Order: sequence, then C-alpha cells, then structure tokens
Amino acid sequence: MKTHLQLLITTFFTAALLFAGAALAQTPSPSGGPRMKAIVYHNFGSPDVLQLEEIEKPVPNDNQVLVKVQAVSVNPFDWHFMEGVPYIARLLAFGPLKPTSPRLGADFAGTVEAVGKNITQFKPGDEVFGGKIGAYAEYVVIAEKFLATKPANITFEQAGSVQIAGLTALQGLRDKGKIQPGQKVLINGASGGVGTFAVQIAKSLGAHVTGVCSGRNVELVRSLGADQVIDYTKEDFTKSGQRYDVIIDNVGNHSLSEYRRVLNPNGKYVLIGGGGVNDNRWTGPIGVVIKTLLLKPFISQEMKMMLADVNKEDLTFLADLMQSGKVTPVIDKTYPLSEIREAIRYVETGRARGKVAVTLKDASQTSLAGGNSATASGSTIGPVLVVFVLIGVPLAVLILPVVVAFILNGRFRQRNPDKRGYRWGYYFSVMSFVAGLVLGVFLECGAMAVIVCGVVYAVLAWFFAKRHRWAWVALTILSFNPIAWIINLIYLWRRWAEAAT
Ligand SMILES: NC(=O)c1ccc[n+]([C@@H]2O[C@H](COP(=O)([O-])OP(=O)(O)OC[C@H]3O[C@@H](n4cnc5c(N)ncnc54)[C@H](OP(=O)(O)O)[C@@H]3O)[C@@H](O)[C@H]2O)c1
Repeated sequence: MKTHLQLLITTFFTAALLFAGAALAQTPSPSGGPRMKAIVYHNFGSPDVLQLEEIEKPVPNDNQVLVKVQAVSVNPFDWHFMEGVPYIARLLAFGPLKPTSPRLGADFAGTVEAVGKNITQFKPGDEVFGGKIGAYAEYVVIAEKFLATKPANITFEQAGSVQIAGLTALQGLRDKGKIQPGQKVLINGASGGVGTFAVQIAKSLGAHVTGVCSGRNVELVRSLGADQVIDYTKEDFTKSGQRYDVIIDNVGNHSLSEYRRVLNPNGKYVLIGGGGVNDNRWTGPIGVVIKTLLLKPFISQEMKMMLADVNKEDLTFLADLMQSGKVTPVIDKTYPLSEIREAIRYVETGRARGKVAVTLKDASQTSLAGGNSATASGSTIGPVLVVFVLIGVPLAVLILPVVVAFILNGRFRQRNPDKRGYRWGYYFSVMSFVAGLVLGVFLECGAMAVIVCGVVYAVLAWFFAKRHRWAWVALTILSFNPIAWIINLIYLWRRWAEAAT
C-alpha cells in the first residue's frame, strides 16, 4: 500500500517527466553558442517569480527534432510547479528548497527548424505539436515519438493546447473509463481545459454526454456537443437521481460516496484532478488518492486515478479527430509571452473556459509585464519551514507512539515487576487509536464517525494491551491489512498450539 501510494504521489506530481519525455534532456549547445529567450523561475512563488532570461539555444542530437515554438498553453500543472504546491510534492518532485528545474511550460506547437540524422518523419518547415518541459522558450528539442503533425485546419494556439488536456481527456475516457457507444458519461468541470476536450471526445466515441459547469458556460458546453448540461450553481448532480456509467472528474468537489451514489453498480469513476491554488496547499489531492485506494477493494464500482501517458499514437489520434472536425480545441484567451504572468494568474483563478494560450511572437522582449518585485523572491511560506514540517511530522507520527509505548511499558513494569513487559502491545494500541481516528475521517460520515472509530479502536487496543486474544483477533481483522492477517494468524496459531501442549 505504502509503495503504491508513494508511486501515485510521485507520478502525480512528476507528470511532467512522463508528459514531456523529460528524460531526454535538452542538449545544451556548447558555451558561447547561439542563445534564446526562455521563461525561468528560481524560487517557488506567485507568477511574479517568473523571469524572461537568455539561455543557451538547444542543439538536437541525432534522435531529436529542434522546434521553433509558436504557441504554448497554460495548464494548472504550471502553477503546481511554479508555486511548489502541494508542498509535499516538493520533497518528491519539485525540489525541496528551490525548483529542481528552472524551466516551465509543457504543451507547445511550432515549426521544425532542424532534425537529427536519425529523424525520418519530420523535416524543417513541418508544423508540429507535442509536449516538452520548458516549452515557454523560443526553441525546444524533442524526440520524434513525442511529436505529431499539426492539422492544417487548426491554429498554432489550438495545437499548442492539446497535449496535456487532450491526452488526459482521451485516456481518461477510453483507457480508464472504457466508454462504449451509448453509455452515459458525466464530465464534472466540462468547461475547463480537460473538460472541453472530454465533452467532444466522448461524443466522438458515441457516448451520451452530460457536462457540469456554471451557468455562464452552459451554452459553450452545449455547443461542444453535450446532450445535457447541468449548471452546478442551480443543481447538484449527485442529488439528481440520474445514474452514469462513467464519471470524469476534473473538479473533485464531491465526496467519493456522493460520486458512487450516481454511478451505476459497475460504473467507473475517473479522478483527473481538482483543487485550486489555495486549496490543500500541504497535501493537495493525496487525501482523495488514499480514500480511493482504501475504498477500491470493497466496492463493485471502479474508482480510478489518472495520469496521462504521452505517446505518438494518441497524439496522432487526436490530430485526426481535429482534422476531421470532431474535436476543436477551445481557446479562451491568448496572451503574448511578455504577459505570461497574467496568463498563469488567469488560469489560477480556476475560471478558464477551455484553454489559455501564450504566443511566442514577442519572445525578443527583454522584460515581462505585470511583475511585483516585492513578492518575486519566493513563496508565501519559507521553503525551510516546508521541509522541516514535511520531514518532522512523519517522524513525529512514527516516533511519538514509540515514546508513549516505552513510557506506558515502564510504568507497567514498575507496578508489576514480576510480569513480562508489553512494549509492542502498547505501541500497537496507540497506533490503533490513531488508525481509528484516520479511518473515521475517511468514512466521510462526520465528526461522530471519527469519534466512534477512535473510541472503538482505542477500546480494542486497550484490551489487546491487556493480552485479551479476542481483542487481538478483532484488531487484526480491523487492520484491513492482509499482511497483518497472515502474520497474526501464524502467530496466534503457534501460541494456541503452545498453550494446548
Ligand atoms: N491527472 C492528470 O494527468 C491531469 C492532467 C491535466 C489536468 N489535471 C488536473 O485536472 C484539473 C482540471 O484541469 P483543467 O486543465 O481542466 O483545469 P482548468 O481549465 O483550470 O478548469 C477550469 C474550469 O473548471 C470549472 N469549474 C470550477 N469549479 C467547478 C465546479 N465546482 N463544477 C464544475 N466545474 C467547475 C470552471 O468552470 P466555471 O467557471 O463555470 O466554474 C472552469 O471552466 C486540474 O486540477 C488539473 O491539475 C490532471
């Protein structure tokens, strides 16, 4: 479970590496070589930390393509990296004190400038789109497997908005949701970057689509092909009595039990994301991830999380949908590069309608507009404090129960010098109490559930510490941990066998 969770958390916040094939780092040109303009940030913080700097222009190796970037789109992904939120991801992906990579941006479209000698599918002058970390720059180098040909009927701004949002929507619907023609699909957050792609792709795959958005976006979502649109300011879809085969959740604003209520018995819930820049800054979506994992084995409906995989086949699939007119990227606003801070601020509001594009036409500008040097030095919370808390809290959670167990055991031994001590029993008891409280929180039944769970586990743990085997058995079962089941079964078996002889 721990490994699974760690993997999920890591992958969630290192989406960049997967999305953009960042393993293939930009090949730096020899020093003194050509230079280019790029957006960089050296501290976590608001968009004020962004700077337009001159850096070395990359040189493609034999297996890379050099692309002159024409347009890049803004994703929530950008502010996650720029702000370094959730803080827990700083330890796992963003960099503990400072950004590991100073470059930002992922989705781009542009024109091929040069190709390595092993490149067969592209030539200079081709119009392409794809994804690469550090896309807010005049040039990127990229492996051809992360590139696709830009359809002639869409603009660079539209093509540059496809990779993250389009792939996420496609793979969420097709691979995780496994949607079939005629199935009922609900898209929560239908008017955003992912949602506007999801509505159109779901329609092209033959689904009956319900989009959820606010009143001002109802017409937009309907124009994208949604069969039904729910204005969340007037109606709560989780109370509508309707049932769906697949829910694509771009917002994460309902409890898992509410989503389950409107899912068919074998329906699939796909968590794409959710949460604004000021929500859950410490842990982000990790609580939902844990709840989803805990719930998974016990229910017939499938609860899934989503991390898109970048591959040429799917980029080409999306290009074909765009070429045929079945999918048209929705561009809300377009900003010049000099206004990138404003563009990211706009996406941070969580109110973007479709995608926000940034064009590179003014890349030769020497400074960025809309900056505030007073806040440009870093995040609102000191990075040292973040690291201290992120390391200190788990340590305290691990160590405090051990300390408490030693104290309780010491007192027990003082009062009962002739009896065997029970250090690990006390430790297990304290941990059971904590686990009971955590379980209560996850049950989403309010404060009463938390108290009841905490008390039930605490009582069981107390009797366990007093060596009552029934409490041991009960706690083992209630650990919901197959490893604990097996270990304790073997242990009890042996103890009973010893007692019998
Ligand atoms: N797992 C992955 O691989 C992956 C990939 C991409 C994105 N994501 C995550 O998925 C989430 C969505 O991404 P995005 O690019 O679509 O974000 P976005 O473009 O910023 O989403 C903005 C849209 O969300 C809508 N919205 C806000 N609150 C809503 C609510 N309560 N109910 C319904 N709609 C609501 C807004 O519509 P109104 O103004 O009408 O409220 C707006 O149109 C983000 O958290 C992002 O980090 C995850």
